[in-house]
Amino acid sequence: MNERLNLLQPYPFERLRALTAGVTPTGALEQINLTIGEPRHPAPMLVREALVGALDGLSSYPPTAGAPALREACTAWLGRRYGLEGLDPARHVLPVNGTREALFAFAQMVVDPLRGGVVVSPNPFYQIYEGAALLAGAQPHFVAQRADDGFRCRWRDVPEETWSQTRLIYVCSPGNPTGVVIDLEEWRQLFDLADRHGFTIASDECYSEIYFDDARPPIGVLEAAQRLGRGFERLMMFTSLSKRSNVPGMRSGFVAGDPGLIDRFLLYRTYHGSAMSPTFQAASIAAWSDEAHVVENRQLYREKFDAVLDALGEALTVDRPDAGFYLWAAVPGGDDQAFCVDLLRQYNVLVLPGSLLARDQPGGNPGAGFVRIALVDSVSRCVEAAVRIRQFTA
Ligand SMILES: Cc1ncc(COP(=O)(O)O)c(C=O)c1O
Repeated sequence: MNERLNLLQPYPFERLRALTAGVTPTGALEQINLTIGEPRHPAPMLVREALVGALDGLSSYPPTAGAPALREACTAWLGRRYGLEGLDPARHVLPVNGTREALFAFAQMVVDPLRGGVVVSPNPFYQIYEGAALLAGAQPHFVAQRADDGFRCRWRDVPEETWSQTRLIYVCSPGNPTGVVIDLEEWRQLFDLADRHGFTIASDECYSEIYFDDARPPIGVLEAAQRLGRGFERLMMFTSLSKRSNVPGMRSGFVAGDPGLIDRFLLYRTYHGSAMSPTFQAASIAAWSDEAHVVENRQLYREKFDAVLDALGEALTVDRPDAGFYLWAAVPGGDDQAFCVDLLRQYNVLVLPGSLLARDQPGGNPGAGFVRIALVDSVSRCVEAAVRIRQFTA
C-alpha cells in the first residue's frame, strides 16, 4: 500500500459533517445549505442540445489530446477573453476532465518523486493542492492569506531556503475562498520568483468568469505573462466550464500554457487514462464558443451579491469579493466553528467554517474566525439565509 495515502487529511465537508453530526436544528425552518461551491443556475440550453446531438460519441474511445475542434474552440476563447496571440491549439492547449483532476495530476507530472521538494500553496486553499503535493512525494508549504494584507498571499514570508526547494506553486485567482484576484504587479513578483528558483506555476482560474465589472475582467496568468513580455515557460493555467457555464457535472475544462509542459502532460495523461468523452467534447465546444450565457450568468450573481450584502447589513464583517461566488466573512466573536454550529442549530443555515479550509501555521490558522458562504442557490434562498444570519447575530 502507498503509505503516503495516510498523509491525506479528511476533506472539509467530511470534517463539517463530523462537527455538525449531533446538531438538531430547533424550530421548523427549512434548511439552507451554502457550503458547497456547486453552481445551481441552470445549464445552458445550447450545451444540453449539443450534448444530446452528440450521443453517437458514446461509441468511440476518445484520444487523450481531444478533438482538434475542441482545442481550437478553447484557443479562440483564450484569444477573445485574454487577448492572447499566436497560440497553437495543438501545442498550447489540452482538454481536461475539470480542473480538479488536472490540478492533481499536474503535480504528479511536475514533481520528481525521487527528488521530492516543496509545493507552495495559499492558505486557506482548495484541498486538492495539498493532496496532490503529498502523493507526488513533495512537502506542502503554506502561505497565509490574512485580512491585514487584504487576503493576499505574503510571498515575502517564504524563506529563501524553501523557495530553493520549490518545484511547483499553486495559485488561485480569483481565489477560493477569499475572492481575491492576483494583479499584474503580483504576477510580476511571482514570475521573478519562478525564474529565480526554476519552479513551475499552476494557476487555478476556474472562477475567472464570475466578476462584477464587465470592463475589468480578472487578469489570467498567460495574459499577465504576455503583458509583461515574459513568454509561457513553466506556466500552466487551469480553467473550467463548471462555474462559467453551470455544468459541474460535465467535468470539462482545459489547461493552457508552456508547450513543453503540455507535451509532458499529454504523455502522463495517456497513461493516467483521462480523455474526455466525445459527447462532452461536443458540448464543450458549444459552451466555449458562446458568451451570451456567461454574461447572463454573471448578471445573476451580481444581483445576488447586491441583495445578500444588503440583507446582511452589518451582521458580519465582509466585503464584496473581487470575483467568484463566495463571501469570506469574519464572524462576531471569532470562533468560526461555534458560529456555524449555533447558526445551524438556531436557524438551520449551513455555512463552512474557514478553519476547515486552512492549515495551522505560525501566526495561527488563517481561516479561523471566518466563514465561507457560497452564493450558489437562488436569490431568494440566499437572501433568506442572509436575513436569518442577521437575526442570529442581532
Ligand atoms: C479553487 C477550485 N479549483 C478547482 C475546482 C474544481 O473545479 P472543476 O473540477 O469543476 O473544474 C474547484 C471546485 O470547486 C475550486 O473551488
